[in-house]
Amino acid sequence: MSENLKLSYETDLKLLHETNENFYEIAWSARHQLLEKNLQGIDDIQEALTAFRKLDSRYFWKVQRVLAGSTENGPFNHYYTGKIDVSPKDLKAANEQFLVSEQANKRQIDIILDSFDDRTDAVVELGAGYGGNLIRLDNAFKEHVGKSLKERNIRLIMAEYTEAGRALCSQFLKRKNAPTIEIYHIDHKAPDVSFLGPAISPLFITVHSIEQVTEIPSNYFKILSDSASNVRGLHLEPVGFQFEPASPQWKEHEKFIKQKNWNQNFANVIKKAESDGYIKIDKIDTAFAAGQPANPTTLVLWHSTT
Ligand SMILES: C[S@@+](CC[C@H](N)C(=O)[O-])C[C@H]1O[C@@H](n2cnc3c(N)ncnc32)[C@H](O)[C@@H]1O
Repeated sequence: MSENLKLSYETDLKLLHETNENFYEIAWSARHQLLEKNLQGIDDIQEALTAFRKLDSRYFWKVQRVLAGSTENGPFNHYYTGKIDVSPKDLKAANEQFLVSEQANKRQIDIILDSFDDRTDAVVELGAGYGGNLIRLDNAFKEHVGKSLKERNIRLIMAEYTEAGRALCSQFLKRKNAPTIEIYHIDHKAPDVSFLGPAISPLFITVHSIEQVTEIPSNYFKILSDSASNVRGLHLEPVGFQFEPASPQWKEHEKFIKQKNWNQNFANVIKKAESDGYIKIDKIDTAFAAGQPANPTTLVLWHSTT
């Protein structure tokens, strides 16, 4: 454990309604402090990102909740206090988990690279957290292609709901060897991708962020496919149970998702988009993360047809 690590985080945020968006507002705000207070000495962005993920994975982070309200002002509800209790994990187990999650992340980055086509001129992550996937993608692209995304005129765009996630991304980007990443706001519940501007062949990606939204709007893929002339989409989301509702293997996972009120309509919305004729689904791989039982990722790849 780092000797200087502060073990309790209090954000400036006071009582906040218990929503998934507010959870991440607090979580990313605490992680911002983790980076600033403990990893100042690491200049290189890729090294800082790895050290950050490793340090993060050594702790349990518990966002505090309270029950508040009054009989006059309506029912009692749960709120987040803005405080986080942090406690260390068993170091050996934490290191093992870190290696597993690094392998899983590497595989995700490789899949994103494989999903480029010759015309791809922008990679846009929606619900990008603090931009970690795009920071790593920049490095992986250089290693695979021998040139940077910038040299190839491929824009990197991170769009994230929370202010804290966007601020943490900016903090990472102050380091040496940082890629240029454009930073915008996005809400999966009402996506506005007008920030795309003149891109012709964007690749949209989501990685466990649609997960956070119980329902995406019925025109979600229409908005993405209408945003440019040649659009591709890659989603790494825990939606296998939606594509195979009769399969007993998903029963536990479906229960888990419903308890959390996480996404339940991705499959219906994308299948309707395909039957309406403006996108074609290229691949659905529900076994993508079969070795990751807690919240297994399904891969879905599509392209626009109009
Ligand atoms: C599990 S994290 C994944 C972050 C990132 N995609 C990654 O792989 O590191 C879920 C992300 O979804 C974001 N999110 C929550 N609600 C959202 C919404 N309504 N619209 C867009 N993103 C949202 C959270 O703020 C958080 O950054």
